[in-house]
Amino acid sequence: MTRTLAPDRVVPELAGRFGSPYLYRVACASTQRLLAPDLPEGAVAVCEKQTAGRGRLGRTWQAPAGEALLCSVLLRPPPERAAAELSLLGGLAVARLVEGALGSPAGVKWPNDVLVRGHKVAGVLAEGVAGAVVLGIGLNVNQSEASLPAPARVPAASLRTLDGVERDRVPLLAGLLAELERAYDAWRERGLAAVHAELSRRDVLAGQRVRVGSAAGVAAGLDATGALLLDTDGGRLAITSGDVSVDPF
Ligand code: BTN
Repeated sequence: MTRTLAPDRVVPELAGRFGSPYLYRVACASTQRLLAPDLPEGAVAVCEKQTAGRGRLGRTWQAPAGEALLCSVLLRPPPERAAAELSLLGGLAVARLVEGALGSPAGVKWPNDVLVRGHKVAGVLAEGVAGAVVLGIGLNVNQSEASLPAPARVPAASLRTLDGVERDRVPLLAGLLAELERAYDAWRERGLAAVHAELSRRDVLAGQRVRVGSAAGVAAGLDATGALLLDTDGGRLAITSGDVSVDPF
């Protein structure tokens, strides 16, 4: 029997502001489209199956019904904070959760992927909507190898393919919302400085030869704004957006 993420199972497990209100659908096009911008900050949309799941840079995000965490959170960052930093913040919160669940290190691949042993287990998508930000998170939980997306430059994994354990997603979702709220509150207070040291520790690109668009060089960490630093033959660049591929040796 599939253990669902229905409100009667999830809401009693939520301790903080995130998840109130909690909007649940069995199926929807994308949880990114369920949160009206006038809802309170911390409103969360969750579904079992998306028919038009969205990834970064116009990509799709696919997961079989009932096997992943698919959720979006409505945030209203204060004007003095850079909303672009939220995808890194989301990645950090997911990495903390995943590391706790697996008991093995989880890293963040700039700007929005969560990796364990070189495999992508989660992605984060931050989209602006009428002055608010909808932060979407897709975390692969119970998929088998066969039901993960086809092999890509960065291969996909689920928590289950990594450790063989099939999990009830309810405590994971409650933990995710708690981690996200903790990271968000620290960021609201102090900006990226609140988490910069941890992001640097989790940065899977640091020291690797990478390409971003037409630029190539050695990844040299993140600057204070969360831009990716790239040491190229022509000097150091600060990259603010793009897709990073790691060069083979
Ligand atoms: C990426 O890695 O490109 C980001 C993927 C984000 C996927 C999540 S799943 C929940 C939310 N709804 C969507 O349509 N996308 C995000």
